[in-house]
Amino acid sequence: MRIIIGLLAILTFCGCSQQSKDTAKQVISTSAETEQYRLQYHFTPDSMWMNDPNGMVFNDGEYHLFYQYYPDSTVWGPMHWGHAVSEDMVNWEHLPVALYPDDYGYIFSGSAVVDKNNTSGLGKDGKAPMVAIFTYHDPVGAEKGAVDYQTQGLAYSNDNGRTWEKYPEPVLKNPGIADFRDPKVSWIDKYSKWVMALAVQDHIEFYASHNLLDWEKTGEFGRNAGAHGGVWECPDLFPLEIEGSNDTKWVLLVSINPGGPHGGSATQYFIGDFDGHTFKSSQEKTKWLDHGSDNYAGVTWNGIPDSDGRRLFIGWMSNWLYAQQVPTERWRSAMTIPRQLHLRLLNNDYILASTPVKELKTLRREKLTPLVSEVSGYTLIPIADISVMQSEMQFIFNFEKEAGDFGLQLSNKNGEKLKIAYSVDKSELYIDRSEAGTAGFSDDFAAVHRTAYKATENLKLHVFVDKASVEVFADNGNAVLTDIFFPGVDYNKVELFSTKGSTKILDATIWQLASIWK
Ligand code: FRU
Repeated sequence: MRIIIGLLAILTFCGCSQQSKDTAKQVISTSAETEQYRLQYHFTPDSMWMNDPNGMVFNDGEYHLFYQYYPDSTVWGPMHWGHAVSEDMVNWEHLPVALYPDDYGYIFSGSAVVDKNNTSGLGKDGKAPMVAIFTYHDPVGAEKGAVDYQTQGLAYSNDNGRTWEKYPEPVLKNPGIADFRDPKVSWIDKYSKWVMALAVQDHIEFYASHNLLDWEKTGEFGRNAGAHGGVWECPDLFPLEIEGSNDTKWVLLVSINPGGPHGGSATQYFIGDFDGHTFKSSQEKTKWLDHGSDNYAGVTWNGIPDSDGRRLFIGWMSNWLYAQQVPTERWRSAMTIPRQLHLRLLNNDYILASTPVKELKTLRREKLTPLVSEVSGYTLIPIADISVMQSEMQFIFNFEKEAGDFGLQLSNKNGEKLKIAYSVDKSELYIDRSEAGTAGFSDDFAAVHRTAYKATENLKLHVFVDKASVEVFADNGNAVLTDIFFPGVDYNKVELFSTKGSTKILDATIWQLASIWK
């Protein structure tokens, strides 16, 4: 990770002095990349608090990632937009804070676009401006019990996101609803207009504009669809071709907190159609993008060229249940690895599958193919000097109907262990982090996260481990589970297991992954 720490520190300090002079600076004792739980190939802020990914847009060969950031503390506070850029979504360069709170409030989540035709008139010298549309959260109004404390604001940049001007007033006023936030704006070619999906309490509203400045409501969706155990947040709306066909459907992502399948936060999705005004779906089941506990508020990049054609996603790898308590010192929270989304027909039902982006392969170093063809009970896998805490693994299990549970277990000398497994009896895929390590910071942390999944004969598990996180992609992303964990010492043992009978191993491959800090 090329990190401009000095610059970041200076600008961070300036921002703080503008916004919150009284906040005591936290004393940071660890160095950035060596802290025990510091992820080695995921995006993390150098220091302090981060939550949702924001403003993801690709421009001039750069992937921009903005994020909810509080530069004064490692817990949530007055929100800024942090900023980083990358040429491959893997190696990141940290840039100065892009947006600071102002008189209209904190800068909550939102999106960014490149206004190619200068519809907004905010461009300069014939160049397309980058425009960010975000939620202003007025903490004073919220404190007073007003309902109209969230509005949509706009800022623009004429130097590829390096410096920003705020538009003098919000571009979308609050109609009298307490939760009115997280605009995802994109240009919809088919209808030649900008479309905004906005989370409004228990549903999504759609707005349209020809210039990014004047918005008109065109429809709404969801009061009676999907999960409603909490507030709806961070929507995303996009078309996606069904794999293996030329047909396209529309996908609506909606994060919800609380009310996820494991409590706390999670992201649901709907597959349907968008007619330029509103989204419709006949989907009856609630569907979750990720079945682990730690993938929230994720959205996709705007501006990916047609020649690439991928729908690229990143999520916040934590959960509001315990995000502010996890035992990291210098910083809090990471993003998931970047993922490609796929619309797939599986057992007569459309699903939104996710796979790791191909750019991650550049991190691969030593490769090991342990000679193991069958397991019964627990079998230790010789991993030589590969550090499992910074690895990618791929296994294909060929199982019998009476195999019980099978999978892999990572463990350390303290007896702490993390299990990634499939239960044949229950047709369930799960991560068991109940004995994975430190968990006392939250009653909700030590748990098993299960999801119904029907594997047939073979199950492929593609697993990414990075110090304190695991991301599991089953059968090319048909089911995905993301969890964080905090062992006392690194796991250094990998075992494959099959609790009843025996299970054949058709493939076992382990790669050491490089660190992006070096
Ligand atoms: C989601 C969220 C958003 C909001 C932001 C505030 O995690 O609650 O709805 O804009 O975080 O930081």
